[in-house]
This record gives sequence, C-alpha cells and structure tokens, in this order.
Amino acid sequence: MSIAIISPGRDPKVWIDALKKHQPNLDIQVYPDINRPNEVEMALLWQHPPGYLSNFPNLKLISSLGAGVDHILSDPAVSKAMPIVRIVDEKLTWSMTNYVVTGVLNFHRQIARYQADQKRKVWEMSNPEIPVKIGVMGVGALGGDVLDKLHYMGFPVFGLGFAEKKDFPYPYFSRDQMDDFLSEINVLICLLPLTPETEGILNLDLFKKCNPGTYLINVARGKHLIEEDLISALDKGYLSGAMLDVYRKEPLPEDHPFWEENRILCTPHIASVTNPEAATPQIIENFRRLKSNLSLLNIVDREKGY
Ligand code: GLV
Repeated sequence: MSIAIISPGRDPKVWIDALKKHQPNLDIQVYPDINRPNEVEMALLWQHPPGYLSNFPNLKLISSLGAGVDHILSDPAVSKAMPIVRIVDEKLTWSMTNYVVTGVLNFHRQIARYQADQKRKVWEMSNPEIPVKIGVMGVGALGGDVLDKLHYMGFPVFGLGFAEKKDFPYPYFSRDQMDDFLSEINVLICLLPLTPETEGILNLDLFKKCNPGTYLINVARGKHLIEEDLISALDKGYLSGAMLDVYRKEPLPEDHPFWEENRILCTPHIASVTNPEAATPQIIENFRRLKSNLSLLNIVDREKGY
C-alpha cells in the first residue's frame, strides 16, 4: 500500500522528509517516477496532469496538498465516487489571516500614500486613517478566522457565504443578499472556494454595486476575478485599489497589465503556502483511517465543491 506524491514543478523533498519523519516505513512514490502504480492507494496532489490518475486502478483516496481542491475537481478523470480530502491547518489559516490583515491595514493606514509622500519629502497630516468596514466572502475555516481577528482588532466585519448559517457571530449575508452586503462595506475580501457558482464572481457588475472606492483583496483563486473588469472598475472609481495573490494564469505572464498597475499590489500566490511539517499529521492520519475504514478528516463535499 503506497502513497503517491504528484506535484509537478514543485520540489517534493520537503513532503517526503515530513512524511518519513512522521512514519519512517511509509511507502512513498513520487511523480514522475511512479513505477508501481497498482500499489498506490492514496494520492497527494498539487496541479497534477489532468487524466493522470487513471494510471492507478487501486486508488482509494485523494488528498489535496493545499486548502483548495479546484485543481482536483476540474479533472473529469477523477471519479465522482472518489473521496477527496483537503488540508485544514492552523498554520495555513494563521498565514492567510496575517496576509489579509496586512492588506486591510495597508489600505486603512494608507501606506502607499505615505511611501509616495516620503519620496517627495511631503509632510501631509490630514485624514491619516481611512475608516473601513470589512466584508469577507467565504466564511469557512479561513474566512472565519479572518473575521475573528479583524473583529478583535476593532473593525466592523460582515460575512457572505453560499451556505445557510445559523448563529453566525457577525452580520451574515447569503448570496442573494449580495447588494446589501456590498452596501455595508468598503473592503471586500474574497476567500470563496472556486466552484462553477463562484467563478467570475468578481466582475464589473459586482464592482458597480460596491461603495465607491472599495478596496479588493483576492486571496482565493484567480478565476474568481474577471481581470479586465478590475482595471475598468479602478478607472471608473468603483474600486480604489486591490491586493491580489492569485491570477487566472500563474506565474503572471510577463505582458500582463497588472505588473505595471500601481493601484494593484501583486504577490505571487504566497499568501498561505501549505507547511508540510504542519500538514503531514492529518495526511498520515487520513491514510491510517483509510486503511481502517474509518471516517476521514476534512473531507470535501462533492456537491458543494469544497
Ligand atoms: C493554496 O492556494 C491552497 O489552496 O492551499
């Protein structure tokens, strides 16, 4: 019984070391050198080649190597019956929240303005804080933590989700209350899973409904955003700026307009990178549960897509 790591373009050594540290006798095969495909029962995936999983006739469980599973669900070769688990991890959540808080504070305390003033030797003390009201789309493990921390810091926070929520600790809006949600806020944070329902949700129609000058932070997936609509929304003043960590095409192509756009702060999908050391125990535990036929941790609901 073997585990396959299929994560092309990334060094698998950190994962092998972490897995072996927790379970030295684990049989691990690593893409592209998987020569005993019949023995693979669990596959750890990050951006695997679509269709590749049909090489494993005895595969019983897929684990994402990250929080997102869109890279798995978008592969038609993954059977509907195949259980999929994902990483839910405190370290991943912590990094994500810190990134988002950085974006919020950057906007709230106008760091770009003061950097520009410093360059020009300008001493300008008026209106040092932009009042912010923060809306988080996607209120799962990551969005929930972002809301808690920002609330604790004293900011008004609002959540929007696609599932029914009872007893939510903050004002909560369902997807058909989007307009009301947007009217409350001037910082919009996207932490939604990527599903057919959420793809392209950050578009000009939505930006038009935002309070003028709203600041956008997208840390979910590039496909949530219609990228050209962001530029139009900035030009029209619907939005005043954005911080993006994810893009339709990654790495961001050299001729992409975002590189030159000083109203957009771009980072290279680093908001929260899974820490192998922290995530390994739940992978090993799921492998153990698979072998013992026990219920799995952090299982993905195929209907919902996350
Ligand atoms: C990163 O994007 C992840 O899904 O963990």
